[in-house]
Amino acid sequence: MRAYDLILKKRDGGTLTREEIEWWVDGIARRTIPDEQVAAWAMAVFFRGMDARETADLTRAMALSGETVDLSDIPGVKVDKHSTGGVGDTTTLVLAPLVAAAGIPVAKLSGRGLGHTGGTLDKLESFPGFRVELSRDEFARQVRELGIAVAGQTADLVPADKRLYALRDVTATVDSIPLIAASIMSKKIAGGADAIVLDVKTGSGALMKSLDGALELARLMVDIGRHLGRRVVALVTDMNQPLGRAVGNALEVREAIATLRGQGPAELVELCLAVGGTMAWLAGKVPDPEAGRRLLARHLEAGDGLAMLRRLVEAQGGDPRAVDDPERLPQARYRQVFNAPRSGYLTAMDAQAVGTAAMVLGAGRARKDDVIDLAAGLVMLKRLGDRVEAGEPLVELHFNDPARLEAARRWLERAFTLADEPAPVPPLIHAVVG
Ligand code: URA
Ligand code: CA
Repeated sequence: MRAYDLILKKRDGGTLTREEIEWWVDGIARRTIPDEQVAAWAMAVFFRGMDARETADLTRAMALSGETVDLSDIPGVKVDKHSTGGVGDTTTLVLAPLVAAAGIPVAKLSGRGLGHTGGTLDKLESFPGFRVELSRDEFARQVRELGIAVAGQTADLVPADKRLYALRDVTATVDSIPLIAASIMSKKIAGGADAIVLDVKTGSGALMKSLDGALELARLMVDIGRHLGRRVVALVTDMNQPLGRAVGNALEVREAIATLRGQGPAELVELCLAVGGTMAWLAGKVPDPEAGRRLLARHLEAGDGLAMLRRLVEAQGGDPRAVDDPERLPQARYRQVFNAPRSGYLTAMDAQAVGTAAMVLGAGRARKDDVIDLAAGLVMLKRLGDRVEAGEPLVELHFNDPARLEAARRWLERAFTLADEPAPVPPLIHAVVG
C-alpha cells in the first residue's frame, strides 16, 4: 500500500477498506507516514467524510494503536462517561463520586485540557496534595477496593490520536464529525469501558455550535459503539451558557461540593441525575434511566456522594478536610463584579467568550505548558431568561493577577445580549440518542 494512493482515493470520494484504514493508522502511530500526508488525508476526510463503517474501523484501529486498559477483573459492567466539552462543566466532579456511591465502579481516566478551564485532573488538584499520577496497578487496585479512581491517562494510550489531533489542530481539520467521533470513541474504548454515556454539547460554548451537527455527532458515536460491541447512549445537552454558576478550577470544586451537599444549581443537578441515571441503567443496576435517576437522587440526598468524594480525595493523597471546609481550597486574592451595561432580559450569551474571560484570568491554558491559577475564574450571577437592571452584577471575577483584569472584562463586554423583550430559553436536554 502507498500513502499517496489512500489520500487520492479519499480525495476522490472513495470508501476505505478496513485493511486500508488499519494500515493508515499503523503508519500514523509508527510515524512511517510523514506529517504532510497525514494532514492531506485529514483534509480529504474533512471534505469527503467517512461512513459509519469506516469511522468504526478508524476508531478500532486508533484504540488499538497503543496501550489499552483492562478492567475485566473488576466485577460488573464498567460504564464511562464523556462530555464533548463546555464552559464550567462541573459534571464529572459530581457524577464520579455519586455514581460510585451507588455501587457502580468508576475507573476514570481524565485529561488536563486546553482552553477556558483545566480538565478534571487540574480541578482535583485544587485539593492540596491530590495525586493524579497513579500506576496502572494502583489505579486498578483502588477501583477494586474503593470503587472509584480518577487518574491521568498514560502517555501510551491511543498514540495515533495524539499525533492526528496535533496535526488536525494546525490544519483546520478539527471540526470533521467522523474525525471527532473516532478521536473521542477510541479513547473511551482504549480506557476499558463496556458501556459509555456521552454528553454531546451544543450551543455557543460547544465544539458543535448547531443542534444538527451535535445530533449527527451523537448518532455517529452511538453507531460506532454498535459496530464495536459497546453500548453507547448520547444525551445532546445545551451549552448556550456555562453549566451551573462556577467557571474555574477551585471554584468548580466548591460548586461540586455544594451540589453533593444538596445545594447545587438546578441545571447542574438535573444534568448529573440524567447522565448518572443513564449510567446506572447501562450498568444493569436499574430497569430504566428514570429509575437510575431516582436511585442517584436518593444517594445524593443521603450525602453518599459527598462521603465518597471524601474517600476519593483521601485515597489519592489529598486533604479530605477540604470537602467539609472548602476554605481550605485555593482562594483568589481579589474579587470584582462585572455589571449589566443596561436593563433588559438576558436573551443570549456567548459562552465561548465567557470561557475565554475565565482563561484570561488564569483559569485555563492557551498553550499546553501554561501554568493554571487554580483559584481564578468566574461566578455567573444571572442565567438566560433573567431580567436584570442596569448596573446590576452579572458576573463575579476571581483573580490573583490584576494585570489580567482588563482583558477579561473586554471578553465579558461582548458576552451578554440584553434585550427589551424576553426570548425562549433553550432546554437543558435537547435529545437522547441510542
Ligand atoms: N475531543 C476529542 O477528544 N477529539 C476531538 O477530535 C475533538 C474533541
Ligand atoms: Ca460549573
